[in-house]
Amino acid sequence: MKFENKYSETVKRIKSNLIRELLKTAGDKDIISFGGGIPDPETFPIKKMSEIANEVIMNEYRVSLQYGSTEGDPELIKQYIRLMEEYEGIHGLTEENLMVTTGSQQALFIVGTVFLDEDSYCAVSKPIYLGAGSAFNQRNPKYISIPLEKDGMNIDYLENELKKLDENGEIDKFKFVYTVSNFHNPAGTTLSLEKRKRLIELAEKYDFIIIEDDPYGALRFEGEKQPSIFKLNNGERVVLLNTFSKVLSPGLRIGVIVANKELIRKMVLAKQGMDLCSSTLTQRIAARFIEKYDLFEEIKPTIELYRAKKDKFMEALEKYLGDIEGVDWIRPEGGLFSWITLPEGFDTMELFEIAKRKKVIYIPGETFYVDEPERNTMRVSFCLPSFEELDEGVKRLREAIDEYAKEKGIELKLK
Ligand SMILES: Cc1ncc(COP(=O)(O)O)c(C=O)c1O
Repeated sequence: MKFENKYSETVKRIKSNLIRELLKTAGDKDIISFGGGIPDPETFPIKKMSEIANEVIMNEYRVSLQYGSTEGDPELIKQYIRLMEEYEGIHGLTEENLMVTTGSQQALFIVGTVFLDEDSYCAVSKPIYLGAGSAFNQRNPKYISIPLEKDGMNIDYLENELKKLDENGEIDKFKFVYTVSNFHNPAGTTLSLEKRKRLIELAEKYDFIIIEDDPYGALRFEGEKQPSIFKLNNGERVVLLNTFSKVLSPGLRIGVIVANKELIRKMVLAKQGMDLCSSTLTQRIAARFIEKYDLFEEIKPTIELYRAKKDKFMEALEKYLGDIEGVDWIRPEGGLFSWITLPEGFDTMELFEIAKRKKVIYIPGETFYVDEPERNTMRVSFCLPSFEELDEGVKRLREAIDEYAKEKGIELKLK
């Protein structure tokens, strides 16, 4: 049978996931990979988790193996409200302000469903978290791509774009700004306090919603913690997306949306048709885990490990790439990623083939754009390679850069 003419326009728009394709071709054991964006499995609390899982199945099976409510496990929601008070200093939340999702990825899909039509506008960062692009693309909205600076989104640029929409009489079609506030994926940047406040001012002036996606905030290894945009705005027009993926385990597939209760009610309706409810089993495991253990104490050793790896990685970048004019990279204060910009004329997709031969891989930056990409960029994650591999990997990257420059006749200017 020919399936082609049966597909929906939505599914026809979906492109294959370039990251998966690239990583598939690079499964070789000797390859040093800066490509992965996943936690180190050695950091998972397997013993504590298996004890709790056993108790939850044996003693609470009437709930943990049964269907649950779309809103989420009341025990998890209760514990999460406590965490928000203790860790984020956000008070006054009730269960009506929260919904549990199947990872933050589902939350992004729900956001798309609830807010976007084909004629809607939304602003996203340039580069963007790939999964957010995939989720929003299903609604085929009009994107306004805002360049990222070292302290987050260029707010002047955003303001200008909003002004233009207003002048064209289209501002009511502008729905939200999507931002990864801490340790951006893919860019590693954090939105400064001043920019957070300006974003809220603009949201009030032009009447839009802010989607604050914060999977990495708890993984800060240096610098001062910033208040969430949600807290700064008392949750009025901010939808906060959180997840257990980077602080406990992505296999649980648990995210949490925190928002105004009117918005949560709509989001519950959208989720019902997707999966009825998120896994009751993993929700109850997570609830009991955070009830019994101090989650933020538990992740301290992981944060220490990531900090040490980040330092090693930054040292290697300085050592092997620091002498090339026009090479720059983000020094993240937390999270899993840095973002390298090579001189004009480099195409990191083409460079990928040479790097693969040299046995080092990364994610070419062009994967992370919803419109015209910057081709001389790459995402690099430092959390999975060993300390020796971090050094050796950047050394190989330099060799690949030199070879590419030679092949293409690009003259590398040295400092
Ligand atoms: C910025 C961002 N948002 C959302 C997600 C989705 O996370 P999950 O579905 O595992 O909660 C990720 C995962 O890497 C991410 O980097």
